[in-house]
Parts: sequence; structure tokens; C-alpha cells
Amino acid sequence: MSCQITTDPAIAAEVIRRGGLVALPTETVYGLGANAWDGEAVARIFAAKERPAFDPLIVHLPDIGAINQVATSIPAKALRLAEAFWPGPLTLVLPKQPAVSDLVTSGLPTVGVRVPRHPLMRAVLELAGVPIAAPSANRFGRLSPTTAEHVRDQLGDRIDLILDGGPCPVGVESTIVFIDGDAATVLRPGGLSNEAIAEIIGPVDIATGSSDRPAAPGMLASHYAPHTPIEIVNTPPAVRRGVRWGLLQFTPNNADGYAVIETLSVHGRLEEAAANFFAALHRLDHAGLDHIIATPFPEHGLGRALNDRLRRAATR
Ligand code: TXA
Ligand code: MG
Repeated sequence: MSCQITTDPAIAAEVIRRGGLVALPTETVYGLGANAWDGEAVARIFAAKERPAFDPLIVHLPDIGAINQVATSIPAKALRLAEAFWPGPLTLVLPKQPAVSDLVTSGLPTVGVRVPRHPLMRAVLELAGVPIAAPSANRFGRLSPTTAEHVRDQLGDRIDLILDGGPCPVGVESTIVFIDGDAATVLRPGGLSNEAIAEIIGPVDIATGSSDRPAAPGMLASHYAPHTPIEIVNTPPAVRRGVRWGLLQFTPNNADGYAVIETLSVHGRLEEAAANFFAALHRLDHAGLDHIIATPFPEHGLGRALNDRLRRAATR
């Protein structure tokens, strides 16, 4: 049985206030939201996603003014980033208020905080009047959802409601930044480019995680994984007869014999490619293919986040 779907943020806010689990549209990907102050509701997020307890949740706020509810302080560089990019696809890792439960932060002394830009998500935050803890609304390790249908397919029988806000315009998760004194580190590349961040606060470090020590908890080498095997190659090979292969490409290539081809941006625009990325992967994964070939993105702007997601999708 599948849950109810609505387009009314007031209904979504009411379910959140009553301790329910609601999938919410954000500009990056759909989140699985619950009242961050309600321990039982937060615990249900982990259960619904089959998410391990070591992987902390991002807390969403209506505006920068709400930050002292969840963080004890905000370093100068973090404040400048918040003022420049909120509401938007930026998560700041800040020292947490004791009121934020260890379940939300996986016992860390810090909390990930974001003010999202999507109008429906903002309406829910205003109407619910509580911070909303929300990871991406997919089963743990699986493809992130950028439409209400993606959420329904993975979690429809485990949650109370989906708020349908249409396809997510950015399409990749937020960029996570940790500021320690004067040092700024990008823990996860995402919908806000490193170049844009550097314009506001100068050069940033890029955390290089390994499989046993990820850059941020929960950032495992294998993630965003479709069921069909994916291989990343610079030039798509011709496909031999008798097999069904799919191609995920940034811009058009000469490609022969592919059963399904997903081209993310005909004119090579990374923003357009990001907005199409997860939906294209979901379609390829449902096309009954033996194998998916993917071409890499240029390693700048949103291309960095897309290459990161692609590598994790290709790792098993
Ligand atoms: O765009 C997004 O960020 C979406 C939407 C829903 O806001 N959310 C999202 O959440 O991508 P999730 O749970 O899929 O990824 C959150 C990641 C965690 O896996 C962890 O790596 C990092 O955020 N994180 C959260 N709190 C942290 C903390 N205190 N320190 C370091 N990393 C943290
Ligand atoms: Mg996620």
C-alpha cells in the first residue's frame, strides 16, 4: 500500500507537527522530514530508510535567524557563506546546541544545518514552526529521489505522506562545508560549486575521504547505487549484438548499439545535467539493462558533484 500524496504544504506541516514522516521537495533532492525535536519521529526516519545510526541527518531551518535554536555559534566565514547562499544548496556543519539529540547528529558535537530554497519546503518550515531533520528520501545507499514518484517507489509503503513539488530544480544534494576557525573544508561536493564558495571566503580545502574513513560520516564509497552495474569510460564503446546496454552521457557522443541513451545536456550545461542526472539514472535502472556505461563530467563547477555521485554509483 502506498501513502497519500498532496501538493498542500499545510497538510504536510500538520503531519510533521503530529510526529509523522513526510517526504518534502527541496531544490536539491526530496528529503524525508520529521520534527527534529521529536526523538521517536527521528528514529522512524532511520528505520524507514534502513539508515545506519552513524550517518547524521541535516537539520532544515526557515531562515538564518533560527540558527541559534540548533547551533551554539557560527564562525565568521560560515556566516558569510550563509548570508551569500541561503536559502540554497549549502549545508554548514556547526557546533550543536545540547537540545539537538544525538540521534540527529549520530553523537557528533556538530550539526549539519541548511536553509532550503524550494518554496513548498519553505512553506512547510514556516507552518510547522519546528526545525525539520531530513536526509534524502531514498533507501540507504540507493539513488536519490528528484521526483515524488521516485520517493513513492522506494519508500511509499513506509512513510505517512509525500508533498509533491514537481522535479527538483538543482538535482544534486547540497554542498556540505565545515569551517574550523579560519579553515574551510568541503566535506561533500554538491549543488553549490567550490568556485562560488571561494568567491566569498577565498580558497577551500576539499576533504578526500577513503572507504574506511569517509570525508563526512555516511559518505561511503558505494552509494547512490542503481541495481544495474555502471562503468565509467571516457569514450563509449560500440555494443556487441545480443546484449542490452544503456548509456548515460553528459553531451552527445557517437555511440552504436545502445538500447537506451540518456543525454544530460545537449549543449554541455552542467546545471542542466545536474537537474537531469538522478531521473536519468532511475530511468536507466528501470529499463531492464545488463550494463550501464557512463561518461565523466568536466571536473569543475557542478561537474565535481556529478563525478562524485557517478563514482559512488559505479562502486559496489
Ligand atoms: O541537499 C541535501 O543536503 C538533501 C536535502 C534533503 O536537504 N539532504 C541530504 O541528506 O542529502 P543526506 O542524509 O542524504 O546526507 C547528509 C549527509 C550525511 O550523510 C553526512 O555525510 C553529512 O550530511 N552530515 C550531516 N551532519 C553532519 C555533521 N554534523 N558533520 C559532518 N557531516 C554531516
Ligand atoms: Mg542521501
